[in-house]
Amino acid sequence: MTMKQLLIGSLFAASAVAWNAEVHNQIGFMAETFLTPKTTAILQQILEPKYNGSIGKAAAWADAYAHTPEGRFSYQWHWIDTEDNPPTLCHLNYAQDCAKGGCVVSAIANQTEILKGCIKHVKSGSLTGGTNLTCSYALKWISHFTGDIAQPLHASGRAVGGNTFRAIFGNVSTELHAVWDGYIPYADANVTKTFSNQTIEPFFASLVTRILQDKKDDFLESPEKWLACSDPSTPKLCATRWAQESNKWDCEYVYKNVNSTTDLATSGYAVGAFPIIEMQISKAALRLGTWLNKMAVGNAYDLEDEDEQMEL
Ligand SMILES: *[C@@H]1O[C@H](CO)[C@@H](O)[C@H](O)[C@H]1NC(C)=O
Ligand SMILES: *[C@@H]1O[C@H](CO)[C@@H](O)[C@H](O)[C@H]1NC(C)=O
Ligand SMILES: *[C@@H]1O[C@H](CO)[C@@H](O)[C@H](O)[C@H]1NC(C)=O
Ligand SMILES: *[C@@H]1O[C@H](CO)[C@@H](O)[C@H](O)[C@H]1NC(C)=O
Ligand SMILES: *[C@@H]1O[C@H](CO)[C@@H](O)[C@H](O)[C@H]1NC(C)=O
Ligand SMILES: *[C@@H]1O[C@H](CO)[C@@H](O)[C@H](O)[C@H]1NC(C)=O
Ligand SMILES: *[C@@H]1O[C@H](CO)[C@@H](O)[C@H](O)[C@H]1NC(C)=O
Repeated sequence: MTMKQLLIGSLFAASAVAWNAEVHNQIGFMAETFLTPKTTAILQQILEPKYNGSIGKAAAWADAYAHTPEGRFSYQWHWIDTEDNPPTLCHLNYAQDCAKGGCVVSAIANQTEILKGCIKHVKSGSLTGGTNLTCSYALKWISHFTGDIAQPLHASGRAVGGNTFRAIFGNVSTELHAVWDGYIPYADANVTKTFSNQTIEPFFASLVTRILQDKKDDFLESPEKWLACSDPSTPKLCATRWAQESNKWDCEYVYKNVNSTTDLATSGYAVGAFPIIEMQISKAALRLGTWLNKMAVGNAYDLEDEDEQMEL
């Protein structure tokens, strides 16, 4: 495991760590549309002022931070390495697979506990204007990791999360991880311009519309099912389930249909991946929004009294 992580470290340094930065921004912008006004007001006090209260703007920070000497410790929090063998066997066991030093599941759990305290600080009036960096970081990490955990190759140990699995996409030689991080979302959105990091793009806005319609047949699974585990009072349990769902796609599609020598953009692989990526991105956004609402204003744990005193 240690060697594996070291290898990942050196590889990732030269390539993408996660969903492309702007895909993270877009997941955050989608999540914002699910926040209650009260949640939005609380988060605004937690985030550093430069984000203007927007988790979408803040959602890509974690990758940049992981590449600084100061943030190096958080690098491995972006994934969980399974010891399975997709497409033959997919299996994610938190106790066995979460590396010493943390993984995406433990990081979500840890930062969720921290953020609960931060929300209390805001409600008691002791935190305003994003002045507590522990709190701003917790919110930024959660906004990022709920995205990462939905990317199938962030819940897979094979080929270093697909980073050493060669692939061709649109005549470009790349690797499978990058195909899922960026090439497929961009092909699905059918745009050549980089997604905005300031505002929601039409492709992602249309996903929000589909989520809100909650039509059974619109996604591979109905959105209400995505929230089966969405209680921040059991963060490790829920994050493990989310990672297990992503991991299953590695057997059901990602490695089952991949071919290193054919162009995935035109072979049918990308088109077949569109419904999966649309659902995984949408899941991430709905879960993030729900998670934050439950912590800020919900009844996931007892905040009722504090709610009464809030004047935001
Ligand atoms: C900051 O957010 C507010 C409220 O959402 C918005 O009206 C304002 O235009 C934003 N400012 C900037 C600089 O983005
Ligand atoms: C939990 O988060 C704190 C603050 O970011 C960090 O110092 C600590 O290492 C984390 N612990 C785990 C187990 O992730
Ligand atoms: C910031 O928030 C964290 C998490 O609740 C808390 O441990 C810490 O004491 C706070 N820092 C300040 C300066 O209030
Ligand atoms: C790939 O390259 C071939 C030959 O150079 C070209 O005909 C084809 O249009 C290219 N495909 C894409 C998707 O760019
Ligand atoms: C993608 O965009 C191009 C150019 O705007 C358009 O011609 C094409 O029909 C679009 N493809 C799909 C599948 O929507
Ligand atoms: C946002 O996108 C613009 C245009 O691509 C880029 O110049 C800028 O650095 C990005 N901002 C952040 C915070 O990444
Ligand atoms: C990949 O595609 C090539 C060319 O179509 C084919 O010869 C090869 O058998 C395929 N490999 C797998 C593992 O399906």
